[in-house]
Parts: sequence; structure tokens; C-alpha cells
Amino acid sequence: MQRPASPHDWRDTNRAMWDERVPIHASSDHYDLDAFREGKDSLRDFEHAEVGDVTGRSLLHLQCHLGLDTLSWARRGAAQVVGLDFSEPAVETARELATELGLGPDRALFVAADIYDAAEAVPDPSYDIVYTGVGALCWLPDIRRWAEIVAHLLTPGGFLYLAEFHPLTDALDAESGAHIAHDYFSPDPWVDETSGTYTDFDAATVNNRSYQWQHPLGEVVSALAEAGLRIDFLHEHDVTLFQQFGALRQGEDGYYRLPADRPRVPLMYSLKATRPPS
Ligand SMILES: C[S@@+](CC[C@H](N)C(=O)[O-])C[C@H]1O[C@@H](n2cnc3c(N)ncnc32)[C@H](O)[C@@H]1O
Repeated sequence: MQRPASPHDWRDTNRAMWDERVPIHASSDHYDLDAFREGKDSLRDFEHAEVGDVTGRSLLHLQCHLGLDTLSWARRGAAQVVGLDFSEPAVETARELATELGLGPDRALFVAADIYDAAEAVPDPSYDIVYTGVGALCWLPDIRRWAEIVAHLLTPGGFLYLAEFHPLTDALDAESGAHIAHDYFSPDPWVDETSGTYTDFDAATVNNRSYQWQHPLGEVVSALAEAGLRIDFLHEHDVTLFQQFGALRQGEDGYYRLPADRPRVPLMYSLKATRPPS
């Protein structure tokens, strides 16, 4: 898909928005750092099941935010985890958490860098696993370049594991999730000016402008294939992690679903793609 040029200020604008939200997130119930310090795993159960045993593996987490998921992989036995995020305050929070957990830089290292500079910013040329978690790809204007960077950073035989909100959900109306309200294929950045954040919608914030991009499923899969990765699986999930539509109901397992009498649509997806052994 041909995309219009990205706004010249997209990176600085988005970074300012994220930097301001880091302390709000770090003190929120949503991220619950105290529970994390006491041992709570922040990863979703399907992520454990789909990634499998990470013991002894090296893992690079792109767009790691506060580092909870990164450090959860370390707790699960990854030999070395590296988290990358372009927000300095996010990376600083992640470093402090790693120190509190007794994980030195040899086990858990965090670097502040734009994702498109990742190859130069991370300490090793390649990793056994590249991981990227929910709410990440929408911040990236160029998914083909992202896929090339991921492929470049994978050891031959290593794999990308990605878990994301399904792009179809961005096309549905916010209340019922039953109608197509937005263009699924829109190449234009979505400009948001909303104050607050997903951990506190009422938070008083000043850096509110942000740019996001939709990445249709076919575009993500094709970008990874074109970058030389082999798609091992693409799973679509009928659950999600938040009240994206008024109609969703939270189950006892914590996941949000459409009511049982409604036809289901995919709400999240996960994907594994391997760099073929050379
Ligand atoms: C929604 S958060 C990721 C959430 C994470 N999966 C979690 O649950 O904590 C998105 C992250 O992407 C980072 N980010 C956005 N654009 C980026 C870029 N161009 N390069 C590096 N990091 C970026 C932001 O700083 C933010 O920490």
C-alpha cells in the first residue's frame, strides 16, 4: 500500500506524549509495579504457550515500555533480555525495576532508541527471539522497514513472536463493535489529541497530540515474508485485554469478549515467524 509521507514531527511528538505518560503508568493499578516486584508475571497465558520455553535464549523486546514483559521473560529463564524503547523515562523505569529484581545488565539491559535505529543501538548483532507486545505496531509509520529490522536482528533459526490488537477492531464502531465505521485500509496517520491515558483517562496531560497508523494484517504478514521470514503461525483470538467496545464483557479469566449471542470477530492476533537457518 502506498502511504502518504509521515508528518515531519511524528517521532518527537509521539515521544513527548509517551514521556509524559510514563510516570502516570508507573504509579497505576494497570501496571501495578508492586505486584510485579512481588513476582506477578505480566505476560498473557497464550504468549507463554505460543512462545514456549525460553530458558537459555537471548530475547530482544522492541517497544518495551516499562519493561514488565521484558523482565517477565527474564524471570521465565531467558539468559539475556534487551528492552528497547525510544522513551528515556520508560527505559529508566525499566532499568530501576531490573535493579530491584537483582537482574544486572548481563541479564537485563534497556536501551533508549528509536526502533528504526535498533540495529545500531542494541549490544548484540542478533537474538534468538525478537518479541513485540500489544499496542506497539500502531506507533510505527513504516511496517516494511520494521520487518527488515526484525529480520536483521534475528539469529538464523531464531524467531519473531508478536502479539497485537487485531487491526479489524480499529475499523469497528467504538460502542457496539458491530459496524464498520472506519476504513480498514486507510494509509493516513490517525491524529489523536485526547488528554489522559489508558491507565487514567482523567489524568491532566499537556503533550496530547500523537500519530498512529493502521497496519492491515496482510500488510504485516507480507512485510515479514518479504523480509525473508517464514510464517510459522498466525492466530486470531476472540478475546482482548481492555474494554475496546462498550459491548465487550470481561470474563473471570480477565479477558474481554463479545456477548455469547453476538457473532464473533477477531480481537487480537499473534504470530510467529522464523528466520530460516542459513
Ligand atoms: C503501548 S506501549 C507498549 C505497551 C507494552 N506492550 C506494554 O504492555 O507495556 C508503546 C511503546 O512504544 C514506544 N514507542 C513508540 N514509538 C516508538 C519508536 N518509534 N521507537 C521506539 N519505541 C517506540 C513507546 O514509547 C511506548 O513505550
